[in-house]
Amino acid sequence: MENRGNFGSKLAIILATAGSAIGLGNIWRFPFTTGQNGGAAFIVIYFACVLLLGIPGMISEFIVGRRAQTNAARAYASLGRKEWRFVGYLGILTSTIILGFYAVVAGWCLQYLLAAIAGQLNGDTQYIVNYFQEFSSDPVKPCLWGVAFVFITHFVIAQGVNKGIERVSKLLMPLLLILLMILVVASCMLPGAVAGIEFLLKPDFSKVNGDVILEALGQAFFSLSLGTACLCTYASYFNRDTNLLKSATQIALLDSAIAILAGLMIFPAAFSVGVQPDSGPSLIFITLPNVFQQAFSGMPLNGYILSCLFYALLVFAALTSTISMHEIGTAFFHEEINLPRKRAAWILTVVCSAIAVFCSLSAGAYDLQLFGMPLMDFCDFLTAKIMLPVGGFLTSIIMGWLVDRKMVQDEFTNQGTIRESFFRAYIFSIRYIVPCCILMIFLHQFGVI
Ligand code: PHE
Repeated sequence: MENRGNFGSKLAIILATAGSAIGLGNIWRFPFTTGQNGGAAFIVIYFACVLLLGIPGMISEFIVGRRAQTNAARAYASLGRKEWRFVGYLGILTSTIILGFYAVVAGWCLQYLLAAIAGQLNGDTQYIVNYFQEFSSDPVKPCLWGVAFVFITHFVIAQGVNKGIERVSKLLMPLLLILLMILVVASCMLPGAVAGIEFLLKPDFSKVNGDVILEALGQAFFSLSLGTACLCTYASYFNRDTNLLKSATQIALLDSAIAILAGLMIFPAAFSVGVQPDSGPSLIFITLPNVFQQAFSGMPLNGYILSCLFYALLVFAALTSTISMHEIGTAFFHEEINLPRKRAAWILTVVCSAIAVFCSLSAGAYDLQLFGMPLMDFCDFLTAKIMLPVGGFLTSIIMGWLVDRKMVQDEFTNQGTIRESFFRAYIFSIRYIVPCCILMIFLHQFGVI
């Protein structure tokens, strides 16, 4: 088998893995979830979830992947029992389904980027609402953009770990940060922006209840790409001397910082023109194009430029995430069926394109339903509410209770070369806190507790 490749430097490891974590989940979902669930109160709970569950969960997946240096299924099996490969299979399946529907929204962003560049998003509110409705109910166009996004992802993956994933992450992640900073500064300088900053950051603990905590936990899992075997696959390209605790902490903090910055980009601009930011797709495809036009008309950085920057930001963020989802299955087919990497990538591309087409049609043009939900919503529900938590739960049980503790310790401390002080905290979290919390979310969402 050809050389698997490794990320070339510590920076590459951070940028590629943060690229997976930072995506539409941060820039789109986090801001309105925060706004709806008590602002800063939600952020405090979210941070607690990231620290207590997210970082230990990330380290666990890192240990599995970095130790085995192979695809997710074989990596889990190599921990001791052959049946554990099913946890890897589950991760591969989860990420394939997520890629299918995520690509649909990413495809919309791509269409909007081109529309913004072509100046087609200039118009009054009614025009922008009509534009979105016409586009999303078209049977062909959104499908083509979704499939186009899967193909762009394919092209990067086919180049390999270093020339593809690493190179694109090194280019797009700094660009993403720069674009976000420009948009945040522009937004916070608008008259009346303070109300938006307050809305995001003023703690309202009266809104906090069990649902809010579970919401924070679910958001942390999705945002950190946990439970999909994605981190495990990327960690198989880490070096043996990578400090896993430090890397997980840096990536989690970067991911959270970007989510908060995204809130500081969206709310001040929306409040400045008196728009209540609502949730769902309409936020990025109707509310924000409107806000950009109104708030920034007549300014040097006007609505046209800011819309282009905003959709470029979304496309870059989505692409670094879809790359990581694609890589999980590609590595699997490449190594398990011995297909050349490019051919393995095609399998994923064809399957995900098919899922994207059906999800896309269910989101507008046709009434494709499964269990009473449009197919797109069903895929979202199935992955985020069932498959991700199950993957995370099984990983924590295996790492906390079933595998040899000495092996876990050796990987955590890089064979004793890193101080052990945090190891006990990690083990405690992975044995008790992580599985109990996941079990609680699970039972709560099905109404058992
Ligand atoms: N973490 C990504 C986001 O926030 C989504 C993702 C989920 C990526 C699972 C990979 C695997 O958008």
